[in-house]
Amino acid sequence: MKILGIESSCDDTAAAVVEDGRKVLSNIVASQVKEHIVYGGVVPEIASRLHAEAISGVVKEALDKAGCTLADIDAIAVTYAPGLIGALLVGVNFAKGLAFSAHKPLIPVHHLRGHIAANYVCFDRLEPPFLCLVVSGGHSHIVLLEDYTRFKIIGKTRDDAAGECLDKAARSMGLPYPGGLNLDKAAAGGNDSAFSFPHPRVDGAPYDFSFSGLKTSVLNLMHNAAQKGEQLNHKDLGASFLRAVTDCLCENTFKAAKDFNVKKIVLAGGVSANSVLRKKMQEGASLNGYELYFPQLQYCGDNAAMVAAQGYYEYLAGNLASLSLNAYATLPIDEVIGKSSL
Ligand code: KG4
Ligand code: ZN
Repeated sequence: MKILGIESSCDDTAAAVVEDGRKVLSNIVASQVKEHIVYGGVVPEIASRLHAEAISGVVKEALDKAGCTLADIDAIAVTYAPGLIGALLVGVNFAKGLAFSAHKPLIPVHHLRGHIAANYVCFDRLEPPFLCLVVSGGHSHIVLLEDYTRFKIIGKTRDDAAGECLDKAARSMGLPYPGGLNLDKAAAGGNDSAFSFPHPRVDGAPYDFSFSGLKTSVLNLMHNAAQKGEQLNHKDLGASFLRAVTDCLCENTFKAAKDFNVKKIVLAGGVSANSVLRKKMQEGASLNGYELYFPQLQYCGDNAAMVAAQGYYEYLAGNLASLSLNAYATLPIDEVIGKSSL
């Protein structure tokens, strides 16, 4: 079954064709980074406008690269939540138009479910159940996948997402957007014990995260140094900060894996591209005998292959949408709305 996936939840306009949830026939991503870089972050209005300009060309390219026409496509999967509402609406409306005109089923895909499914296109044999750490710009979750479409939230952030925290720290160090990626590069080879940061824990919720205190502590450190006219070593500062953030992510994930007796751990989302996180998770997994999976770098950030891959499993579960499908800026990963009985 060939599914056309469409993704426009943030600053990437993406389309892909994936067969049976696993085989990527095409994967086109038009990044808007160049347009947002001058503002130091994503400007929602600009993102929506650029999605509207790019989407038909991106979808056409995805079909062409896959050697398909719309007639060869069995269903259209689209990210409908969560994300920037104006950005999501561009993809949702485009997908609805295509589904209507070509008489194809429409599959609503939750963006974080998509991030997790990026692993299915990278690892042919990976199947639930498994534990997943989903870390993106807006979310930090530990999720237990009982099945492809059954999700149990084990832990989540109480305030900032890991990506958001890295982006703000990077910005205050003068690094350009996208901050997390540039912080990863800038901190490479730095001394991660040069600065010490708090290790936030949430009382009574051992799998939850809290990153806002960590973010404030790095901002305060930089402020104090600036007031005293001191120069901080940004390589060491970045490495120490990444150590603190990734320690929290790894500790909670391994604790959850142990407590829930899960042997397979999966990483997903933009922050899963982080070199420190990947290395630390690999070390912990081999030490404790876990199977570890994380996507190839090109599938860590937003893309539509992940949407088409998850779309396949949503389709098999009967999660289809009618043409009244709406977009939602927030939606828990364990919920489905807009489901139709069509
Ligand atoms: O999943 P994603 O592309 O978009 C959202 O759904 O939010 O995640 C974007 C986040 C940003 O915070 C970005 O800075 C972060 O992923 N990111 C990284 C790296 N690459 C992207 N964070 C740390 N290290 C990286 N290499
Ligand atoms: Zn994302």
